[in-house]
Amino acid sequence: MSDRKQSTIAIKGSVFHFVENPFKTDEERSFQYYENGMLVIKEGKVHAVGAFAEESIRLEPGIQVIDHSGHLIMPGFIDTHLHYPQTDIIASYGKQLLEWLQTYTFPREGMFKDAEYAESVADFFFDELLRNGTTTAQVMATVHKHSAEIFFRKAQERNLRMISGKVMMDRNAPDYLLDSPETGFEESLELIETWHKKDRLLYAVSPRFAVTSTGEQLKKSAELLNSRPDLYFQTHLSENRAEVALIAELFPWSKDYLDVYDKFGLINERATFAHSIHLEDKNYQRLSELKAAVSFCPTSNLFIGSGLFDLEKITMARIKLGMGTDVGGGTSFSMLKTLGDAYKVLQLKGQKLSALQAFYLATLGGAGSLCLEDKIGNFLPGKEADFLVMDFNTTPLMQRRMAEASSLQEKLFIAMILGDDRNIKATYIMGEKVHGD
Ligand code: GUN
Ligand code: ZN
Repeated sequence: MSDRKQSTIAIKGSVFHFVENPFKTDEERSFQYYENGMLVIKEGKVHAVGAFAEESIRLEPGIQVIDHSGHLIMPGFIDTHLHYPQTDIIASYGKQLLEWLQTYTFPREGMFKDAEYAESVADFFFDELLRNGTTTAQVMATVHKHSAEIFFRKAQERNLRMISGKVMMDRNAPDYLLDSPETGFEESLELIETWHKKDRLLYAVSPRFAVTSTGEQLKKSAELLNSRPDLYFQTHLSENRAEVALIAELFPWSKDYLDVYDKFGLINERATFAHSIHLEDKNYQRLSELKAAVSFCPTSNLFIGSGLFDLEKITMARIKLGMGTDVGGGTSFSMLKTLGDAYKVLQLKGQKLSALQAFYLATLGGAGSLCLEDKIGNFLPGKEADFLVMDFNTTPLMQRRMAEASSLQEKLFIAMILGDDRNIKATYIMGEKVHGD
């Protein structure tokens, strides 16, 4: 443990975080904003947050004050769905989901047989997340056990709060990527024993989707989940119309796609269903009843032409929701760009996403969707001090546009429409700077 982590530090700047859900309460009361604020961190956790004038006089003498005045200090972004092995296939041309998987994704994931390659991708992936201000993510590895092993080891070295799991697939993929219900079960169990709850790491049981898992493998997935009450579950759901039709062929007894996961007992409060676009109306109620989470992945849904997410149906049903970049179907590690695309997708649906709602989904909402709201997502005392420092004025256009913005909401909206990695001046993990000057 470094000196920094053991000691107290104070961060000066404009401090912003959510204390309530802006989808449920008056937006104005959902957040705290101290234009001249201070965040005090003790042993890697939030000790206090407030106005600089008040917090600074309470500081013991000799405490280091890091000055980010003029910039926004906010909780790190939470990306609830992406694939580290797909880093090198971002921006692959011309296919929709099922063909995209066969043409680009599966061959690339096959390359993770080579542990050295997997290590180099994992290093780049974590650098890129942090450069974009993302401090927690729920990430799919490949079918190779060591791809998850490498992911967890590298995340542990960086002291990150990450959720991941070895993908399970026992059909409809190339032979070189298949496991079996038994080996998928055994390898996942070994990974769970080594990594689940080790430091800040958490394990997600990860059948890729019901297209690539037999009923037998989904049954084994439920057995894994039942082996420990606190395991996570991640998969894909109703992303693409051809995928939905294929599920009906593969599981002729099912009422619909969600029903497949339901019948195998895979829907619970630690489950995240990525995409969830082409749902049946009754599915919203079911996801809500079982307290499962959905990950909204707008850049991916646009790029691989999957469809338009229905935020209104999700929020009306009070389903837990987080944002996902879904790299490499998604085209950016930037949560700012992802929020911008979310806004545009919803415009096409005639729906709205306010800046406060968007930033909530990317922080405290995402944390809640992952049952981590007691640990991350805002700056209440005791939370883990993972945060980013945002510069609103990184390009001539942003400077010009921001000069006209008077409220925080306006600035946040401009940031999510015009912003990208350049706006993330620094990223801190448990109070230690890991990106930025
Ligand atoms: N459905 C099954 N696998 C995948 C994947 O890797 N990416 C996306 N976007 N959808 C999937
Ligand atoms: Zn995905």
